[in-house]
Amino acid sequence: MADIIAIDGPVASGKGSVSAGVAKVLGFHVLDSGALYRLAGTACVKEGVSLDDQAAVTKVAENMKPLFKDGRIYLNDEDVTDVIRTEEAGLNASQIAAYPTVRDALFQLQRRCAQEPGLVADGRDMGAVVFPDACLKIFLTASAESRAKRRYNQLKEKGIDSKIDDLVSDLKERDRRDTERAVAPLKPAEGARILDSSELTLQETIDKVLSWYREIRP
Ligand code: CDP
Ligand code: CDP
Repeated sequence: MADIIAIDGPVASGKGSVSAGVAKVLGFHVLDSGALYRLAGTACVKEGVSLDDQAAVTKVAENMKPLFKDGRIYLNDEDVTDVIRTEEAGLNASQIAAYPTVRDALFQLQRRCAQEPGLVADGRDMGAVVFPDACLKIFLTASAESRAKRRYNQLKEKGIDSKIDDLVSDLKERDRRDTERAVAPLKPAEGARILDSSELTLQETIDKVLSWYREIRP
C-alpha cells in the first residue's frame, strides 16, 4: 500500500498549496478532492440540473468524466479550470457535498488515486473517510481573517477584484455548512495532528508537514 498523507481543513487554509509543495519534494501524486465536488456542481449548472434535486445531482456525479491534462481540467472538452475555482462554484460544491449519495459516487474515484510511490490527498474527509489508512493525517487550519486575506491575494493575482468582508462571510458560511452536515463533516480525523498556519509562511507549513512525515518514515 502506497504511503498516503491526508490534509484536511477549512476553506483556504492552504491545503492545496501545501499538498502540492509536499508532493513535489517527495515525488508523490496529489489528489485535490475538492475539485471533484466543484466539478460535479459545475456540471450540474451546465446541464441545467437543480442542485436541490439529489437524485439528479447524484447521476451527474456518477457519470461525469473530467479530463486532467497539462494542469488544466476539462468537462466534455470544455476548459473549466478557472470556472470551478470561483466562490460560487465553492458554495455549489458544498451544497451537493452534503448528499451522501454524491459522496459515494466520488469515493472510488478518490481511492484509485492511492498509487506508488505515494499520495498527498487534500479535502475535508481524507483522513476520516476516504483514506482512514493514511500514515499521516493533518488538520490544517488558520484564522478566518488570514484565510480571507490569502484568498483575496490569490484572486488578485488572477486579476479578480474582491472584498475581504465578502470573502470572510463566504468562507464562514461554507465552513458552517461543511461542519454541520450529517455526513463526513469537517473535523479533525482521529489521530490527526493539528497545524495552525496563521503565523506560518507557505514554505514553513510545507516544512512542518515534511518533518512530521520524516518522523514516521525516517
Ligand atoms: O486549498 P485551500 O483552499 O485550503 O488553500 P490554497 O488555495 O492552497 O491556499 C490559499 C492561499 O494561501 C494560496 O495562495 C497559498 O499560497 C496561501 N498560503 C499562505 O499564504 N500561507 C500558508 N501558510 C499557506 C497558504
Ligand atoms: O479550496 P477550498 O477549501 O475553498 O475548497 P475545496 O477543497 O475545493 O472544496 C470545495 C467544497 O467541496 C468544500 O466546501 C466542501 O463542501 C466540499 N468537499 C467535501 O465535502 N469533501 C472533500 N473531501 C473536499 C471538498
